[in-house]
Amino acid sequence: MNTTDAPLKSLDEWEDFMKERYPEPAGETSPPKKFKATDAEKKKEQFRNYEADARPSVREFYRLNHTYQTYEFGQEKRREFASLSRREMGVWEAAEFLNTLVDDSDPDTDLSQLQHLLQTSEHIRRDGQPRWFVAAGFIHDLGKILCLYGEPQWAVVGDTFPVGCAYSDTIVFSKFFESNPDSQNAVYQDRLGVYSEGCGLDNVQMSWGHDEYIYQVAKPYLPMEALYMLRYHSFYPWHRENAYSHLTNAQDREMLKWVRAFNPYDLYTKSHEAPNVSELKPYYEDLISEFFPSKIKW
Ligand SMILES: [Fe+2]
Ligand SMILES: [Fe+2]
Repeated sequence: MNTTDAPLKSLDEWEDFMKERYPEPAGETSPPKKFKATDAEKKKEQFRNYEADARPSVREFYRLNHTYQTYEFGQEKRREFASLSRREMGVWEAAEFLNTLVDDSDPDTDLSQLQHLLQTSEHIRRDGQPRWFVAAGFIHDLGKILCLYGEPQWAVVGDTFPVGCAYSDTIVFSKFFESNPDSQNAVYQDRLGVYSEGCGLDNVQMSWGHDEYIYQVAKPYLPMEALYMLRYHSFYPWHRENAYSHLTNAQDREMLKWVRAFNPYDLYTKSHEAPNVSELKPYYEDLISEFFPSKIKW
């Protein structure tokens, strides 16, 4: 992969940026259950700062993501990946496969992909959440194996947004949408675009990435609450900014609380204390077998 496709030193760079953008509320030792709303003015000011302070690599990543994530691109990627005909492997095996993703992250301070998954799921488990919630935490980023298929970073990670309708101004670096061909399409820039009021997110095409891919893989096996967590965990404009409510239906609004409950475990559980993979493996093998067959389609 060349640097045009991979401006980020590691996928973590995008996640670190999200953490700067949505800092952990002060004084919270465990994931907060609720986020405090800030007024629109303050938010706008913060936005400008995030954009101004972003590393050049992160800025370039967003430029590529916002330029190339078109409606048509998403259709093409769904045709390419939704048939799940690439591989057949177990969930733990997929986690080990993802762990072979070698990037330029700092081996002394950065956690491996498997360690991030385990930190997330272990925190969920320690909080006494249901087992399907722990399972969702463990698999939530397995869609990043798209990188191992040679997909560029901008088509794997990044906060997601609906395509085929107007972009919300709560999306960071929205100015980069100017170079997206969809911004020249009047239908795609309409408030509802190709959708209808309250049509439900299931009928809305999100920008393509690891969230949609893992949702497709896990769809037959996990309860709806978990599937919402997987599919929309990077949809920050919805779960943190309350945007796009005109596209949601009653089920989405009901499920939003689960997507929100998941987010702090994803965003704020990174510590340098590495989980012990071999010690945890038996618990996860058991948990995985409760929900998934020994091999699933990817
Ligand atoms: Fe993710
Ligand atoms: Fe994650």
